[in-house]
Amino acid sequence: MATPCYHPSAFLLHHCPQRRKSKNMIRHILIHPDPRLKRLSDPISEISADVGKLADDMLSTMYDAPGVGLAAPQVGVNQRMFVMDCVKNPDTPPRPIVLINPEITWASEDLTTYEEGCLSIPDQYADVERPSEVRVRWLGLDGKTHEEQFAGLWATCAQHEIDHLDGKLFIDYLRPLKRQMITRKMEKLKRELARG
Ligand code: NI
Repeated sequence: MATPCYHPSAFLLHHCPQRRKSKNMIRHILIHPDPRLKRLSDPISEISADVGKLADDMLSTMYDAPGVGLAAPQVGVNQRMFVMDCVKNPDTPPRPIVLINPEITWASEDLTTYEEGCLSIPDQYADVERPSEVRVRWLGLDGKTHEEQFAGLWATCAQHEIDHLDGKLFIDYLRPLKRQMITRKMEKLKRELARG
């Protein structure tokens, strides 16, 4: 049976509102292995202008990649924030969400397997089983507490991104041999990129 797909490249970038804001910076996305991707990120204590700028840049970077989710550690900032937009239908308006200090407050017993990918582990995909639905509570850029139940790709994406804030990658769910194989490929890719 085919599993639903969470390829970052599945996202259609043409409807991104953030791309029109020219002031936003496309930030460099760290590639695994990198110690900054393994760290426990710190809670954000104040929604400063810097946090707003980081959120805007992260959305631009995510849409540009293209991807459906991006966590702050992936751009080298070890703070608890991620962005996501899992709208894939070009006829549906985009829904960029910025989640600060996100917490899973409930997870379904039902599990779903998605073939996951990650912008920090380009072109590598593997099946990961996670709760099908989760409730997430977070602080918005508006300073208010939000809580929402996510299902489908949104639920998988939220859990994948919250893992990033705890220094965990989707390959950490795989068997050691498969994980080592992917890590070696990434080390090779980074050597190639460094050579230009
Ligand atoms: Ni990821």
